[in-house]
Amino acid sequence: MCGIVGYVGKQKAAPLIIEGLKRLEYRGYDSAGVAVFQGGKFEVAKKIGRVANLEIEASHHRLTGTFGIGHTRWATHGGVTDANAHPHVSSDGTIALIHNGVIENYGKIKNFLLPKGYTFKSETDTEVLCNLIAYHYAKEAVAREGESRFVESVRKTLHHVEGTYGIVVMALDAPGELVTARKGSPLILGLGDGESLVASDVSAIVSRTQSVVYLKDGEIAHLTASNFAITTLGSDSVEPVVDKVTWSITDAEMGDHSHFMEKEIFEQPTALENAMRGRFSADGSTAQFGGLNISAGEFRGIERFMFCACGTALHACMVTEHLIEEFARIPVECDYASEFRYRNSPLFRNTLFFVMSQSGETIDTLAAMREAKRKGYKVLAVNNVVGSTIAREADGGIYQHVGPEVGVASTKAFTSQLLIGAMLALYIGRMRDLSFGAGVRYVEALKGAPDLVRKALLQADHIKAIAKRYAHYTDMLFLGRLSLFPIALEGALKLKEISYIHAEGYPAAEMKHGPIALVSEKCPSVFFAPSGEIVNKIISSMQEIKARKGPIIAIITERVELPAGLADETIVIPECHEAVLPIVASIPVQLLSYYIAVERGCDVDKPRNLAKSVTVE
Ligand code: G6P
Repeated sequence: MCGIVGYVGKQKAAPLIIEGLKRLEYRGYDSAGVAVFQGGKFEVAKKIGRVANLEIEASHHRLTGTFGIGHTRWATHGGVTDANAHPHVSSDGTIALIHNGVIENYGKIKNFLLPKGYTFKSETDTEVLCNLIAYHYAKEAVAREGESRFVESVRKTLHHVEGTYGIVVMALDAPGELVTARKGSPLILGLGDGESLVASDVSAIVSRTQSVVYLKDGEIAHLTASNFAITTLGSDSVEPVVDKVTWSITDAEMGDHSHFMEKEIFEQPTALENAMRGRFSADGSTAQFGGLNISAGEFRGIERFMFCACGTALHACMVTEHLIEEFARIPVECDYASEFRYRNSPLFRNTLFFVMSQSGETIDTLAAMREAKRKGYKVLAVNNVVGSTIAREADGGIYQHVGPEVGVASTKAFTSQLLIGAMLALYIGRMRDLSFGAGVRYVEALKGAPDLVRKALLQADHIKAIAKRYAHYTDMLFLGRLSLFPIALEGALKLKEISYIHAEGYPAAEMKHGPIALVSEKCPSVFFAPSGEIVNKIISSMQEIKARKGPIIAIITERVELPAGLADETIVIPECHEAVLPIVASIPVQLLSYYIAVERGCDVDKPRNLAKSVTVE
C-alpha cells in the first residue's frame, strides 16, 4: 500500500517520478504528490485522485529540480484530502518526506513536538514523522565520523518510532542526497548511469536500470547520483548485494489490451508454462523444486501442513489442501494469515508451514510467517515477486515466475499458485503412496494445462455476451464442490472486487442451509458442474435453485449433459485431470467478472478502496 519513488541524477526529477508512480498506482490511488528541490527550497505538487491528476497539477508548478520524491497514497491516517497527500514538509521547511506504513506512536510524538513550536497542516502520522526528523536534524543529531548529519538525524528519529515504514527523505541543506529506510514496507534501490533511484517496487525503476539492491528491514541507505551506502539502524555498515532484474519494462506494459487484467488473463497459458519450466523430474513422474531447502528425508517426516495467506492466495491454498490430502494423504490446514497471527493456534510437532503471496509483502502473511518461525517451525513460501520480504525471510520456497502482475485483481498469479500447489501435491504424493504410473499421468496432465487454458479462453466472446445479460444484477452466488469450492469463493471475490456486485461463494450443497433464502429471479447462481461422481448431486442443487426461479449460469465440462432447460447459460470447459481442473475452471469466472465489470463501466485495474499489496494491518 502506498507507492514510493525517489530520484537523484541529472534529469528533471518530476516527470521520471510521475512515470514511476503510474507503475505503482496498484499500491493505492487515493492521492499522489511529488516534491523536488529547486531554487533553494522544496517545491511540492499534490492532488487527490489518480496520478493523472497529479500530472496536471505538477504542470502548473514548473518542476525543474533534478532530485525529488513522489508518492501515491492508500489512505490510513486521515481522509483523502490534498493536505493529507504526501510528500510532507516539516513546519520549519527543512525536511521533506514520503512514507509507506503506519507510525503507531504518532500521537505521543506530536505531543512532544507541539510545545517545541512544530505545527501540522495534515491529520497524518507521516507529517509527525517528518517533523521529528526535522527536530533531530536541527537540535540533536551529531554526525558520526564519515557520516552525514542528515543520515544520523533519520537514524535517531527511527529509534523513537513504533510501527512500520518505508521512507524517503530530503533535507534542505543536503542537495543531491536522499536518505531512505525501511521496516515492514518494501524498498528497492536502483543503481543507474549517473543516477540513483529508490522505489517500493522494481516496476517503477526498471525503465532506468536493471541493477537493484533490495533493502532489508532495519537498514538505512544514503544515496547520491553516483554513490550509495547502507547501514543498519544500529550504525553497522552493510555490504550490499546488487541483483539484476530479469524482466524488462515491456513485461509491465499493457500492449494492445484494454486493461492489465485482460492482458494477464490471456497471458495465463504462457505464465503456466513459465511456472512449470524445469520443474519435472527426468523420469517424468514427479515435480522438483530448486529452492525448498529441505531434504527429501525431512519432507517424509512431515505429518501435517499448515498454509496461510490472504485473499486470492488463500483460495489457492485451499485448492492445494484438497490436492495434498487427495494425492499425498497428509492432513492440511488453511487459515487466513490475519487470523492465524493472533489465534495462538496449537500446531502439531511435525508440521511444515507454507505461506502463499503474489507480492511477498502482504503484512498479515508476513506476520503469520514470523509467528510460525518464532514458534520454531520451518516456513516455505510460494511467491511471485523476486526479492520480496517474504521470499527473503522464508526458509525456502518456490517462485511463481509469471512476471509482473499489475491488475489489482489477481489472475495469472492465482492460476500459477494453483499449478504450484498441484505440483507440491504430486511431489509429496510421490514420496509416499502415489505410484510411478499415477505420477506420470499427473505430470502429463500438468504439462497439458496451458493448452486446456487456451481452449477455455476461446469461450471469451461467449462469456462476454453472457456478461452483457447479467451485468445489471446486484447479487450473485457462486457454487462449487470439492476442489472447485475454493474456485467458487474466488469467482465471488473477483466479481465483488472489480464490479461491486455483491457475491458469495458457497459449497454447492451447503447453499440450502442459508444462502437459498437469497434466491429469486433477481439473484443468479454460477454453478461449477464438472463430470465426476457427484455431478448428479450438483444437478440436484441446480434444480433447487431453478425451482425458486433463480437464473443459472452453469460451467460444465464436455461430458456433462444437463437436463434440458435447467441452465439459462452454459459455459463448457474441457475435461481435465483433477489437479488441472481448478486452473481451467478459473478461466470462465475470471472472464465473467472482467466483462461484467467492463459492461458496468468500472475501473477494472484500480477497483475502489483496494490495493494490490496490502502492507498495513
Ligand atoms: C490484496 C489484493 C488481493 C490479494 C491479496 C493477497 O487484498 O487485493 O487481490 O489476493 O491482497 O496478496 P498477496 O500479494 O499476498 O498474494
